[in-house]
Amino acid sequence: MDKKKQAIGVFDSGVGGLSVLKQIVNLLPNEDIYFYGDRANAPYGSKSQKEIIALTIQAVETLMSKSVKAIVIACNTATSEAIDVVREKYPEMLFIGIEPAIKPAVLDQNKAILLLATPMTLQSKRVNKLINQYNQHTHILLKPMPLLACLIEHHDLKDDEIQTYLKEELHEYQDQVDAVVLGCTHYPFVQTGIVKELGNVKVYDGALGVAKHLKHILQQHQLLNDDTKGGRIVFESSESNLDIFYKLWNMKIGEME
Ligand code: DGL
Repeated sequence: MDKKKQAIGVFDSGVGGLSVLKQIVNLLPNEDIYFYGDRANAPYGSKSQKEIIALTIQAVETLMSKSVKAIVIACNTATSEAIDVVREKYPEMLFIGIEPAIKPAVLDQNKAILLLATPMTLQSKRVNKLINQYNQHTHILLKPMPLLACLIEHHDLKDDEIQTYLKEELHEYQDQVDAVVLGCTHYPFVQTGIVKELGNVKVYDGALGVAKHLKHILQQHQLLNDDTKGGRIVFESSESNLDIFYKLWNMKIGEME
């Protein structure tokens, strides 16, 4: 098979990766996509690094068995804890990871930025290196949200439980920051609820950056699919029920609450 025509693999612990997938499909409408959500093992954010590495290897191998030409790790937790390991283990595969969008938030001259992410992302060496690169003139506050990905994964997005949790965790930051960085791919699904608790803030997430980077890498390797018929998306999960993927896929990000 012509390598250009092979699908792109996209992976997350669950539905969060769909927020990245939306940007990929907008930017690269002719690519076939194979999306794998490891719902049976979600959330990753409070697991040990060893567990996250093992699960990421498993997910990557699932995608590689579908002969994908590149793999997007659409999960901040898996990227920050495991991308170096899978890059070393599979040097022939193109991996594109996601990182919290701290750089654009700092370059926009925001003075105080709140970074929301899973506990493991905030603890990781990779993300701490990124923070240290950008916190010279900008106040970057770190806020782990240990339960949020799981609430999004298992509740209707309109459930009071989600807003109650956001209120409990974020209320003290109301009107204290100019910007919020959504450092977990699940969080854009409750963006309106987050902004409601924080007041007037600019919102940054890494999804568009990842889609642009993916396009650049495929271009560089002459792997862009030149068909114009429109790509197909196949969803797969470690859990048999795929309903939640179809449900969230058919909503627009802004319409999710
Ligand atoms: N969506 C993921 C992230 O970007 C993982 C959330 C989780 O499984 O805890 O970090």
